[in-house]
Amino acid sequence: MRLIIAITGASGVVYGKRLLEVLKEKNVETHLIVSRAGEQIIEHELDMTRSELEKLANYTYEENDLAAPLASGSFLTDGMVIIPCSTKTLAGIAHGYSENLILRAAEVSLKERRKLILVPRETPLNAVHLHNLLDLAIQGVIIIPAMPAFYHKPKNISELVDFVVGKVLDSLGIVHELFERYSKRL
Ligand SMILES: Cc1cc2nc3c(=O)[nH]c(=O)nc-3n(C[C@H](O)[C@H](O)[C@H](O)COP(=O)(O)O)c2cc1C
Repeated sequence: MRLIIAITGASGVVYGKRLLEVLKEKNVETHLIVSRAGEQIIEHELDMTRSELEKLANYTYEENDLAAPLASGSFLTDGMVIIPCSTKTLAGIAHGYSENLILRAAEVSLKERRKLILVPRETPLNAVHLHNLLDLAIQGVIIIPAMPAFYHKPKNISELVDFVVGKVLDSLGIVHELFERYSKRL
């Protein structure tokens, strides 16, 4: 399996880091693009550098490298995950404004009808955000907001993070045990 992973400048870059860790364990080939804003938030929230985080991926790209293979539909992938996804990147995808490699790779995923998963992180959401999310959902984009559940009784932040990452893996069809599934106990 070959996936494109993008980390943009929303809070919650830990979700992207954890997804990369799990995909590495599962020998999934990852192509990582970190936006400039994402890089700043990695340093702020994870106390690590972008290059340290990039070691988790098989291939890495600059966001302004529009000549990278990922900019072309002829580069075959099994999907793309933007985790976390800023409202700016969401808007760019919804409106076809492909000014960087993340936006162009997402546009390619849409035009080639490949799996595209967004993990938006913003609250509260305004009408522009909601319109953009709906437009993309209608096109088949999978929207997994960074909204952990609590039915698995999380004991720490890692278990909250693993819930959201587990939902992404479910959508990709990757088997995992990152959280205990809901079962009604009478
Ligand atoms: C500390 C910090 C936290 C931010 N958190 C969010 C956020 O949670 N969601 C969001 O949509 N934008 C957030 N932003 C704003 C984005 O980083 C900004 O819109 C940026 O232009 C996004 O660019 P990108 O999509 O190319 O990464 C944050 C910015 C900073 C500096």
